[in-house]
Amino acid sequence: MTNFHDLIVARRSIRNYTAEPIDPDSVKLILEAGLLAPTSKSARDWQFVAVDDKHTLELLAQCKPLGAKPIEDCRLAIAVLGNPELSDAWVEDCSIAAAFMQLQAADLGIGSCWIQVRNRFSADGNPAEEYVQQQLMIPDTLPVLCVLTFGYAAQERKPQNVDKLLWERVHIGQWKG
Ligand SMILES: Cc1cc2nc3c(=O)[nH]c(=O)nc-3n(C[C@H](O)[C@H](O)[C@H](O)COP(=O)(O)O)c2cc1C
Repeated sequence: MTNFHDLIVARRSIRNYTAEPIDPDSVKLILEAGLLAPTSKSARDWQFVAVDDKHTLELLAQCKPLGAKPIEDCRLAIAVLGNPELSDAWVEDCSIAAAFMQLQAADLGIGSCWIQVRNRFSADGNPAEEYVQQQLMIPDTLPVLCVLTFGYAAQERKPQNVDKLLWERVHIGQWKG
């Protein structure tokens, strides 16, 4: 495993991907990372829909007019769904699972990007969530938080600059304005 600090400094959102497929063992490790994520009251209130079919990816990329293009290009997309009937912390639980999957991918040298679906709208003004549910046959009781895109990077991204971190957002002992 890469040194964890080096991994999170180097991790950047990757939106352009090479044609190289992601091997099944890596796909399994990425999904396993989601399934390993902690959840409130151990509800494990997420579900993941993995998609690599080109036509379906093209359709999913139309879930919203801006910011969804990486879905069209990626080698693998994972829609992250919650279950509000199982937990009122589904957004938090799904977010942590999504981040785990992105970090596992980064550790495998695979780029990824979070495409927000919750609270976003399609070009026709309908919720992007409903569009994704329809494309993937997801019941309307399972809201879609995001679609994660994965693939080997076809772009160079600079690592984060640790000298420019917003340390003023950190307060020690008590909040100080
Ligand atoms: C909650 C959330 C929603 C995001 N939604 C999108 C999105 O819809 N489309 C997109 O291209 N990137 C999206 N991103 C990626 C951010 O734009 C990206 O993380 C941010 O610009 C920082 O860049 P970095 O990840 O390279 O450090 C999202 C990230 C988060 C955490």
